[in-house]
Amino acid sequence: MAGAPPVEARGLVKRYGDVIAVDEVDLTVEAGDVYGYLGPNGAGKTTVLRMLLGLITPTAGQVRLFGRDPLVSGAAALEGVAGFVEAPRFYPYLTGRKNLELLAALDGGEAAKRIDEALDTVELTDRQRHRVGGYSHGMRQRLGVAAALIRDPRLLLLDEPATGLDPAGMRDMRALVARLSLAGTTVLLSSHLLAEVEELCNRVAIVRTGRIVFEGALEDLKRTAGGGWRLRTTDDGRAAEVCRTQRGIAEVRVDPLELRFEATEEAAAALSVALVEAGLAIRALAPHTATLEDLFFRLTEDGADPVSAAGRPAETEAA
Ligand SMILES: Nc1ncnc2c1ncn2[C@@H]1O[C@H](COP(=O)(O)OP(=O)(O)O)[C@@H](O)[C@H]1O
Ligand SMILES: [Mg+2]
Repeated sequence: MAGAPPVEARGLVKRYGDVIAVDEVDLTVEAGDVYGYLGPNGAGKTTVLRMLLGLITPTAGQVRLFGRDPLVSGAAALEGVAGFVEAPRFYPYLTGRKNLELLAALDGGEAAKRIDEALDTVELTDRQRHRVGGYSHGMRQRLGVAAALIRDPRLLLLDEPATGLDPAGMRDMRALVARLSLAGTTVLLSSHLLAEVEELCNRVAIVRTGRIVFEGALEDLKRTAGGGWRLRTTDDGRAAEVCRTQRGIAEVRVDPLELRFEATEEAAAALSVALVEAGLAIRALAPHTATLEDLFFRLTEDGADPVSAAGRPAETEAA
């Protein structure tokens, strides 16, 4: 089916007894996207990827990969699709290269001819003759990507590719995903790290206990998250008055522990001078970077959500 999007899932549900691991998930990944499926542990990320790859059957709902149903078309639906769920698995006593050769033999076709290039892309050429048992976690993850690349995928599905890596390993994995995307591969990755998704992805779904609470462009998400500034002074009540008379300072909110407002960096700098002139000392003035927890809180702010309400330090302090 020409022009069908790489991934289309509608009303996906997966139940395990009483546990609803995935709850009415709709998502569309367009060609060229680096799509982030973002949520904490237990949110159902791996379960969704398993359903997309046809490894498990949904309780309800549909999956289409380039217009094909993995449950009906089987292996044919996975043509042009590759990736891994949880950690990629290899024979530890064989070399990285030998592992890829075995996989290529299973895959048939041209896969074996792509091994050199795949190793090069994931920067494992130098270590290809070493046994996988001696690889670092990051190297094994990269070999997992190489194993996907020998299938020459147009769509790459990666389940928390950078989780558990050290900072250098994370940087390498992110750079690798960025390179693959630039080379034209559509990527769907799951992550529990907002910063990672922000760095890599153009579209995101934010999931919580199986349910998508936000789906869309990262730019819209950032607007939802609001950047904003946080300020603490020796007298926040008076500081709020200064904020309200200061040009370029908007949406001033007095929280029990701090003030929040929207401003450009220049306006925030001018405010710092005005505060000092008003005889107030600044304890902290910093732009706020939203975390996944902040986003969950804002996205569920109107609903009675005991988890996010209890997790908000400002409220427990005020009580
Ligand atoms: N095979 C299974 N049997 C029973 N429960 C499962 C199974 N797989 C996942 N779950 C449950 O489904 C929920 C989502 O799991 P998972 O998809 O692994 O989340 P994530 O990958 O986001 O951490 C969890 O509550 C998990 O315990
Ligand atoms: Mg998982």
